[in-house]
Amino acid sequence: MDRIRVTDDKRLLHGGDYNPDQWLDYPDILEEDVKLMKKAHTNTFSIGIFAWAALEPEEGVYHFEWLDQVIERIASIDGRFILATPSGARPAWMSKNHPEVLRVDSLRRKQLHGARHNHCFSSPYYRRKTQEMNTLLAERYGDHPALLMWHISNEFGGECHCDLCQENFRAWLKNKYDNDLDKLNHAWWGPFWSHTITEWDQIESPSPIGESAVHGMNLDWRRFVSYQTIDFYKNEIVPLRERTPDIPITTNFMSDNPEFVPFTALDYSQFAKEVDVISWDAYPAWHNDQEDTPTLASRVAFLNDHFYNMKHQPFLLMESTPSLVNWHDVNKAKRPGMHFLSSMQMLAHGSDSVLYFQWRKSRGSSEKFHGAVVDHDRSSENRVFKEVAQLGQAMEALSDHVVGYQRKADVGILYDVESEWALKDAQGFGLKTKHYGETLQKHYQAFWERNIAVDILSKEDDLEHYKILLIPMLYMVSEETATKLQAYVKNGGTLVGTYITGLVDESDLTYLGGWYGPLKEMFGIEPTETDTFYPSDRNHVSYKGQSYEVRDYATLMNMAGAETLGSYEEDFYKGTSAVTRNEYHNGQTYYIGARLDDAFHQAFYGELIDALGLKAPLDLRHKRGVSVQAREAEGRQTIFIMNFTEEMQAIEIMEDVTDLQTHSPLSGTLDLAPYEVRVVEKVVS
Ligand code: GAL
Repeated sequence: MDRIRVTDDKRLLHGGDYNPDQWLDYPDILEEDVKLMKKAHTNTFSIGIFAWAALEPEEGVYHFEWLDQVIERIASIDGRFILATPSGARPAWMSKNHPEVLRVDSLRRKQLHGARHNHCFSSPYYRRKTQEMNTLLAERYGDHPALLMWHISNEFGGECHCDLCQENFRAWLKNKYDNDLDKLNHAWWGPFWSHTITEWDQIESPSPIGESAVHGMNLDWRRFVSYQTIDFYKNEIVPLRERTPDIPITTNFMSDNPEFVPFTALDYSQFAKEVDVISWDAYPAWHNDQEDTPTLASRVAFLNDHFYNMKHQPFLLMESTPSLVNWHDVNKAKRPGMHFLSSMQMLAHGSDSVLYFQWRKSRGSSEKFHGAVVDHDRSSENRVFKEVAQLGQAMEALSDHVVGYQRKADVGILYDVESEWALKDAQGFGLKTKHYGETLQKHYQAFWERNIAVDILSKEDDLEHYKILLIPMLYMVSEETATKLQAYVKNGGTLVGTYITGLVDESDLTYLGGWYGPLKEMFGIEPTETDTFYPSDRNHVSYKGQSYEVRDYATLMNMAGAETLGSYEEDFYKGTSAVTRNEYHNGQTYYIGARLDDAFHQAFYGELIDALGLKAPLDLRHKRGVSVQAREAEGRQTIFIMNFTEEMQAIEIMEDVTDLQTHSPLSGTLDLAPYEVRVVEKVVS
């Protein structure tokens, strides 16, 4: 198998966002930075992310000399730089001279200059200006041997409702609906509340003071915002593609925070097609008081697998904190060892980097207390700096065993952001208990606990080679997706669906005549009602002799060929089917009608793992809270054994592996201290 590398650098990348433009009046700090960079075992810096005002302090007046010097300093320590385009934040002169760059919010209020990530994606001036700036950057630095990658803007998101964006929205709709208002009105269910559109210019983007109840329109607006954002990005990269065709391009993606679930403002499955390398910014709240560390670790793992599978190749961790952030409700410091462990977890799940926000703590403004490698004390002797340096050393030693190594999984979980948009919008069920992202993470966790690798897939992915595919709460299932799922099961696949699955089509219109035919046939059931619970309501399901707790949702169903595996224990539907199985052509389907607890997931998926012969990368025994994840290339697996508990763990290893730290064979009992990680190698062919 060829190794897929995200960059031509054979090193794991360690470093992060470097904002020297905040320190141009402090030459001693800039000199100090490079010395500390070496000491911290860092090698890669993302620069220029918010540097527009330093690069072009007045319209048409450019200053690149400071950046030249920064780049030369980084290169002098054999470092590499990821050069950002500065469009994530504009200089004040631009907002003043060209107010069209300012966004208009959904209440139709023109925004003032301020903050960041708030430009209008349609503005012809901003589009032209970003191209001009990027042309200059590419011409000046495109051939620099230390240039590793382009970092486009920063964390794209948000939306604009200005007149230009309205026009673009209408043009996008005309194209989508073949210029036919009848088609649009049908998709938007126009006659409801007399919302039939008779002229295109009656259409206005969704607004709390205007239209917000037309679900088809809300959905199309989200699709348009994604399209328009990606279009803006594509416009930005034109000069880079022309002048530096060999330099890879990324833009940093993120999660929805603070929930720490997949990002929902944009359709990343579409955005991913336009970037060369996926990168993302991860800020889990370690040691929080809502969940135990292993549970959070499994949710981090889920997100990593999500980003890995956007291109099915290694990705970059573009931002993380070596210590704490400044925007969680409580900004708790990572306990000793957690930085090492959490960073290794990123590598284990397919990252070829550990990069931070940021290199040096700002002196002023809102991020002055956000964690960084270099603190206000300017010291390399504090705990955080030392832990960063220790990690850097370990990464240097591991590079050859990780860079370009891939992930492999037999299990797929489908995540669909369009379905999530529609589900969030649905006025029904529990308005506060839909939790699509969290539900997927719960199902994922059952596999994580058994060290079974999982791919998080989009509906466009190939499904054939997965032994089992989960589609929890896939509210929106188009005909096309249903056909694809049917083909998957017909060919021998195992498909698991749940409550609130397959209720609407791609326009968010419900299916008529009961559950959508192909789903009914495939699952051998017909859901009839979904009972939604108050927070304190409970039911139970008896499944294979055990009783499991139900919260939030319980679907009632008619049987249409499936067998019952579990039944409700209480309420007016006591004794009726809650969990079912159906054989369909060469495959099988399971339907989990209720939101069941973790114990159920472990029992249910545990049996499937055994029945389908799914294997962990290493045969070992351990208690809960240890995670074992692998990357592989060229017949070798690099396996990370990670202790996410605060206790010593005695692990029984039943196979011969080599400890990559000591380079000696390892088998039998391995004692792992709290938060400790061991990386071992196994020969697989
Ligand atoms: C990210 C952002 C960075 C920094 C960081 C703080 O979302 O890209 O610029 O603000 O958050 O955690």
